[in-house]
Amino acid sequence: MRLIILEDAGVVADWAARFVLQRITQFAPGPGRHFVLGLPTGGTPLGMYRRLIDFYKEGRLSFKYVTTFNMDEYVGLPRDHPESYHYYMWNEFFKHVDIDPGNAHVLDGNAADLVGECRRFEELIAAAGGVHLFIGGIGPDGHIAFNEPGSSLVSRTRVKTLAYDTLEANKRFFGNDISKVPRQALTVGVGTVMDAKEVMILITGVHKSLALAKAVEEGVNHMWTVSAFQQHAQALFVCDEDATLELRVKTVKYFKALSEEHQKMIDGVPVDEQRVLH
Ligand code: F6R
Repeated sequence: MRLIILEDAGVVADWAARFVLQRITQFAPGPGRHFVLGLPTGGTPLGMYRRLIDFYKEGRLSFKYVTTFNMDEYVGLPRDHPESYHYYMWNEFFKHVDIDPGNAHVLDGNAADLVGECRRFEELIAAAGGVHLFIGGIGPDGHIAFNEPGSSLVSRTRVKTLAYDTLEANKRFFGNDISKVPRQALTVGVGTVMDAKEVMILITGVHKSLALAKAVEEGVNHMWTVSAFQQHAQALFVCDEDATLELRVKTVKYFKALSEEHQKMIDGVPVDEQRVLH
């Protein structure tokens, strides 16, 4: 596992977008050879999406041969509801780039058969050849997607009834009215994300610092589901300084000492040359 500690949320967004650019470019997608990307919603990845849109507009990146799978979606929320993840993905990202909407998969929380929809999603991922890079965000309680504390660490895509804490946390998006927050969601499982070849988790803000410490410094524990990624062969945690506040000084120093190596990961050129490119 690599922990990449960057100055602030803006630098995290830029780094994450560069990493996606680097991975897609290196893969050289084309007809019959799609790069498969797993994507989150939420506040954290917004800056990354904006940078990816910039790269597309600058002609540095195309999504024509990219297939995406989103982590989750509420049950029973109309697609055009401003809080639906369909709405978010379309407005914040898909409509700004050249992705074929048929290749951008978001779970259908209005499907008549929700269990069947979850099965179909897993089958689509398998038919796409698996996910090359799954990008995720986490909650202050260490959840990834809607895999809340206590979720199975080998879980697959499924229907989840949301915990009261999650309803409380999300009511701000629904006019502070908890009764308007959907009670259920469809979500990929921890196991679904673990199957990706590479996983990049973005963590910013002091309110995520305890979750980061649990994920990195303590053992694998289903009460902090993101900790499962300690056992992933290619997992990156990309965080800002604020998110490190609960880490030991020793941990921070160890990973910061590797920062030049981490910098090379985003385009394979030495740090100085990369600055010139800015
Ligand atoms: C998003 C998702 C969640 C969020 C997490 C953090 O699809 O599944 O795990 O990544 O709740 O949300 P933000 O980024 O809004 O703090």
